[in-house]
Formats: sequence, structure tokens, C-alpha cells
Amino acid sequence: MKLLSLTSVSCALAIATATPLVSSRDVKSAQTPNLGYDELLSLQHQFWNKFKYPNNIKEAESINSTVFSEDVQGRVSDTRNFVGRELNTEYIFGLFTPSDSASIIGRPGDYEIVQFVANKNIAVASTTVQFIFPSFNNISLPVRIDTWLTWNAAREISQYDVTFRWFGYLLKTLILGLNPDDPVKSQTAAVNSMAASICATHTTYCNGTNTQYESQDECYNFLTQDIRVGQSFELGMNTLLCRNVHEIMIKYRPDVHCSHIGKTGGGMCDDSISYETKVQEQYFTNSPWIPTQTAV
Ligand SMILES: *[C@@H]1O[C@H](CO)[C@@H](O)[C@H](O)[C@H]1NC(C)=O
Ligand SMILES: *[C@@H]1O[C@H](CO)[C@@H](O)[C@H](O)[C@H]1NC(C)=O
Ligand SMILES: *[C@@H]1O[C@H](CO)[C@@H](O)[C@H](O)[C@H]1NC(C)=O
Repeated sequence: MKLLSLTSVSCALAIATATPLVSSRDVKSAQTPNLGYDELLSLQHQFWNKFKYPNNIKEAESINSTVFSEDVQGRVSDTRNFVGRELNTEYIFGLFTPSDSASIIGRPGDYEIVQFVANKNIAVASTTVQFIFPSFNNISLPVRIDTWLTWNAAREISQYDVTFRWFGYLLKTLILGLNPDDPVKSQTAAVNSMAASICATHTTYCNGTNTQYESQDECYNFLTQDIRVGQSFELGMNTLLCRNVHEIMIKYRPDVHCSHIGKTGGGMCDDSISYETKVQEQYFTNSPWIPTQTAV
């Protein structure tokens, strides 16, 4: 028995040493190719073109967009982290396609890259995207999006770290736009329509084991009375705004997303992450964000 297990261990070791399918060095260089400035700029344009409506519909329909690597790691300021190709296809492309929901999410149109720098496999850009917000009287507003991206050798995004610049000001502008003379009425109108929309989506898609609320009333009361509306930095916390973002994803995979609009927040909309944790989190592992020296 003992002999047998020793033999199989050494056998396994022999196989491991004899047939290295991909060495760790290859993996690393595939993850950190030296793509050069021009190609990184061109890839950046390709991304924004696919993000733009209606091109994003096609990307969302692909379910697993090849813009992203299978193991892509994403982070969006003021929300949460998103891992893997399918989830990111939903959050980056599906989220911004037209929906029936009353939502703070808009529809992206033309873009302009206004700041850009790139090195090796890392691209940093600041881009102004013109959005239309269907739930806010179709107002058209520019949104400034700062992106850090890493690309792998297959020209897929392996990591993104994204900040919506001046997001709090954008949110305020949207909500006040509903009733410019009365900020309180504006906010109440926005809250009521968002809560009603989330509950309607729940009724349509979250049945059986995916059920989060026993009734429309329970849903509406929870959303309007038991939790915060949320400030602009609370889109990944126990707030109405967080559930408003996740609502749009439910139609893609109710089993994955229904819990995000429920009472627990399903690991996406809760208050479990402190400010310090957020700042000091070591999240990205696919590729360094500081370009390493090219060996000579
Ligand atoms: C998308 O990718 C996931 C994870 O690799 C896989 O389980 C799923 O079947 C894929 N879906 C489609 C439609 O290709
Ligand atoms: C917004 O525009 C769409 C067409 O793109 C239209 O169907 C809808 O009625 C408009 N909504 C408002 C509030 O103007
Ligand atoms: C929800 O209802 C649909 C349609 O009746 C059904 O196919 C699905 O299995 C149900 N989901 C759950 C989790 O019960």
C-alpha cells in the first residue's frame, strides 16, 4: 500500500517533469506581451467601438465575448470586482444595451479618447463617451471613463481597472434633471421608479429557488424603506442604486443575478467591504500593472 502510493507519486512527478505543456515562463510572456504603442491604441479603439450601441448588442449576444480573456479580472470603481469572460460580457456589454428597466444606466454612443499612454501590454486612457439615458427623459450627457487595461498575447483584455470620473456629479445631474426646480421631488420620483422596476423584474424572472421576496409589497417596502438609496460610491453596497445596476443583468442569468437584487445582496450589494479593505485590496494577478524591464 505504502509502496504503491510512493510509486504513483514518483510516477506523477516524472510525468510532470517530462512533459511541461507550457512552462511558467511561457505563461508569463503570453500574459505580458510587448505589443507596442500603436497596437495598444488600435486595440483601445476596437474596444470602444464594440462598447458603442448597437455594436454592444452583438457582443452581449455572443455570451462569451472574445474581447476578454477567459480569466479576465475586472474592477469598476464604486461597484465590485467581476471575474471571468461570461460575467464580464454581461457587465460590460449586456448592461449598456436597451432595457425596459428604469435605470441610471445609459446607452453609449460616440466616444473620443482624450488621453492615452501605453507601454508593453498596458494601456491607460481617458475617454469621453456620449451617453443617452432613457430613464431620464433621454438626456444626452458625456461621461468620462478612465481605464487601465492589460492585454495578453491573444489580444484579449486580461485585466481592467475602470473609474467613472465625476460620477457623483453625473448622478446628481441625472436625478435633478427629472425636476430641476425640486431636488426632493426629483429624488423621490427616481427612487420610486427604480424600486418599482426592480420589483417588476423580480416578478418576471426570479421564481422558484431564485425568489428573493414573497410579494411585490415586501419587495417595494424593503427597497424604499429598509435600505439606503445610496451615494455615488455605493454601487457595490447595500443600496437601492446597487440593486438598480444588477437588475439589468437578471434577464441573462436569473440564477446568478437574482440574489443581487434580494435582501442579502448576493455578495454584490452588501456592506462587507470597508474603505480600507477597498483601498488596500490586492486583486489583480494576471499581469503586473507596472511594466517590467524587457530582458536584453
Ligand atoms: C461561456 O463560458 C462559460 C465558461 O467557460 C461556459 O461554461 C459556457 O458554456 C459558455 N457559454 C457559451 C454560450 O459559449
Ligand atoms: C426616448 O427615446 C425613445 C426612442 O429612442 C422613445 O421611444 C422614448 O419614448 C423616449 N422617451 C422619452 C421619455 O422621451
Ligand atoms: C422559473 O420559471 C420558468 C418558466 O416557468 C422555469 O422554466 C424555471 O425553471 C423556473 N426557475 C426556477 C428556479 O424555478
